[in-house]
Amino acid sequence: MAGRTAIPVLAVLVVLGVLPWIIAAAPANPGDAAAMQSIANTTGAAKSLGWGVKSADPCDGAWAGVSCDGAGCVTSIRASRAGLVGWLHAPDLSKLTFLAELDLGFNGLIGQTGGDLPLLPAPSTSAPSTSAPTASSTLRSFSANNISLSPFPDYLGSTAVFPALESLSLAGNALHGAIPAVFGSNSNIKLLDVGGQSSILTGRIDQLIAGMTSLVEVRLDHNSFFGPLPDATNLVNLRVFDAAGNNLCGVPKFASTVSVDVSANPRIGKPCG
Ligand SMILES: *[C@@H]1O[C@H](CO)[C@@H](O)[C@H](O)[C@H]1NC(C)=O
Ligand SMILES: *[C@@H]1O[C@H](CO)[C@@H](O)[C@H](O)[C@H]1NC(C)=O
Repeated sequence: MAGRTAIPVLAVLVVLGVLPWIIAAAPANPGDAAAMQSIANTTGAAKSLGWGVKSADPCDGAWAGVSCDGAGCVTSIRASRAGLVGWLHAPDLSKLTFLAELDLGFNGLIGQTGGDLPLLPAPSTSAPSTSAPTASSTLRSFSANNISLSPFPDYLGSTAVFPALESLSLAGNALHGAIPAVFGSNSNIKLLDVGGQSSILTGRIDQLIAGMTSLVEVRLDHNSFFGPLPDATNLVNLRVFDAAGNNLCGVPKFASTVSVDVSANPRIGKPCG
């Protein structure tokens, strides 16, 4: 008899949505919990967001902006405008091996040495391998607008280290230097936003976006990009191209489906030579 009643009871639980709820509420695995407690301490999120104060389990719903999967792995951290002041250590992040989304915008995070934010495991410190996944291999979306980020983080364009990256927002920082032409080449990056840097961010847009074949939206406005406008007719997914306020030249070549802003480029419409 027990065997005959078990199935209907299970069916009722599934129908009521109780079973998915039980699965979704799995406690954080110990590695993720320890990394998150450390992040809570070093970034000041323990104070500003109360992380770890009421509960030591980052997956129990009490950690504002933190989401987990059904196996108790942290998948998303949305902590923009959270009053964070402090440090974010790459070794903590690298323990969150299922992290897909990280938003740290509009905060006061700095590197341990007072310089740059040690964003994520860099190629030199963690060679990607299937037996040792890191946060970087699952990261789909990284947003760090207005956090005074300084040199341009070239490594975010590496498909070997960030194979899943689709969205990269670094607007309103102090990024400087030239974005290398190979950045994001053959990557899955759909959104790239590096608009409005307070220092001199430069490079050749025509060379840069030629290799970024997945681009849907690219925002490069109010910087020091130079050279010819790209021939973007082969970027079939492109919908938004904003390069206002740079030093580009030449004639726009975009499909009619693309929303284009190239205002405030004094040499647009004139030959580049
Ligand atoms: C975080 O800070 C609390 C309170 O200062 C301390 O007890 C705990 O050991 C710290 N945990 C980590 C992982 O740094
Ligand atoms: C973002 O940073 C830019 C450049 O530093 C600054 O002009 C702007 O006011 C900031 N925006 C916000 C909302 O803090």
